Amino acid sequence: MTLTDITLLPITTPCYFYDIDLLRATLDTLQQAAAPHSYLIHYALKANYEEPVVREIASRGFGADCVSGGEVEFAVKNGFSPDRIVYAGVGKTPAEIENSLDLGISCFNVESIEELDMIQAIAARKNLAATVALRINPDIDAHTHHYITTGLAETKFGISLPMFDLAVKKALESPNIHLAGLHFHIGSQITVADPYRLLAAKASELVARLHDEFRFTPDYVNLGGGLGIDYDNPDNNPIPDFSMIFDTVSQNLDVPASVKVHFELGRSVVGQSGSLLTRVIYVKEGIGKRFAIVDAGMNDLIRPALYTARHKIENLSAVERGETATAVYDVVGPICETSDLFDSDLTLPVTLPGDMLAIRSAGAYGSAMSSAYNMRRPASRYFFEKNKQ
Ligand code: LLP
Repeated sequence: MTLTDITLLPITTPCYFYDIDLLRATLDTLQQAAAPHSYLIHYALKANYEEPVVREIASRGFGADCVSGGEVEFAVKNGFSPDRIVYAGVGKTPAEIENSLDLGISCFNVESIEELDMIQAIAARKNLAATVALRINPDIDAHTHHYITTGLAETKFGISLPMFDLAVKKALESPNIHLAGLHFHIGSQITVADPYRLLAAKASELVARLHDEFRFTPDYVNLGGGLGIDYDNPDNNPIPDFSMIFDTVSQNLDVPASVKVHFELGRSVVGQSGSLLTRVIYVKEGIGKRFAIVDAGMNDLIRPALYTARHKIENLSAVERGETATAVYDVVGPICETSDLFDSDLTLPVTLPGDMLAIRSAGAYGSAMSSAYNMRRPASRYFFEKNKQ
């Protein structure tokens, strides 16, 4: 199916449109890339928690990376095995910790010594051992947008390197804590290999330090997520280059063979499978600008407003009618905020009221970050599978 065929489908807009065939092809590629290395992949649920998407991912046997008690419960309900669910986040509440222990999740990715104390106290009260990985802040610059960089020295995430020894000692000495691994996450939308090379080297150094100073070898290192997607050319690069990070890590990670390697990928798994479809309500002529006012808003997709992120925008209807003339538009939504702008000074085929636009690469952090701001109704959802049509 081509995206322009969508204009013929009975779709109400705004609408999140998911190409389940592309999701499956992406998952196939991911599994093939991870298999030779025996890497365990967790899906970062925060990227997209549409049930049909999540169930497809869970059906492949991936683990789940969760960041709230709600995500943990959702993961269990939607087919992830609790013994493959990890739970990260700087602000886990006592109730969330207790519930996750009851559900039997595999591991807490612990972000502070204070949290370690809290988990120890709760596990002691329940008379069981909580498995944890220490999230270490490796001080590596992922060279991505500063709002989605997480691995630098001073952020709210993780335990900083100068506190590494203290945290390890505490974890090893806590009677109801089972230290199983080291966890890292350096940022998101990373499109080059170098940050992963540095991360693999840092993880190797810390595993060696655990051995030398504590006579301790972890069961695994979890290198987090972060692999980016091609927002400029989604059709040329619909499936991210998973081998790029796996091969880089395998070439640069120097740990004992017993130490397994985990990843937590979000955007790269689901990003290209989703588009936000929207119709033009008005084409408004201004003084120096022409606005295509569409029926999707920043409440449906907040990334452009929040991070000045650019998503490719296509006019599917204009392609369908063979429009050859072009004009320049600001594509804006109906929300009462100036930042409700999907793109500015964008050249599109001449665009008319009623035209359907596709805002591409919206499968990750799209619907998941949407809100009802301005009391807007949620965008509808459409899950497309070729064999089901
Ligand atoms: N693991 C941890 C601990 C994380 O914090 C994240 C994402 C991931 C894994 C998954 O990262 P990914 O593979 O998706 O890059 N809302 C932003 C992205 C925020 C990412 C937050 N953490 C955006 O729309 O670009």
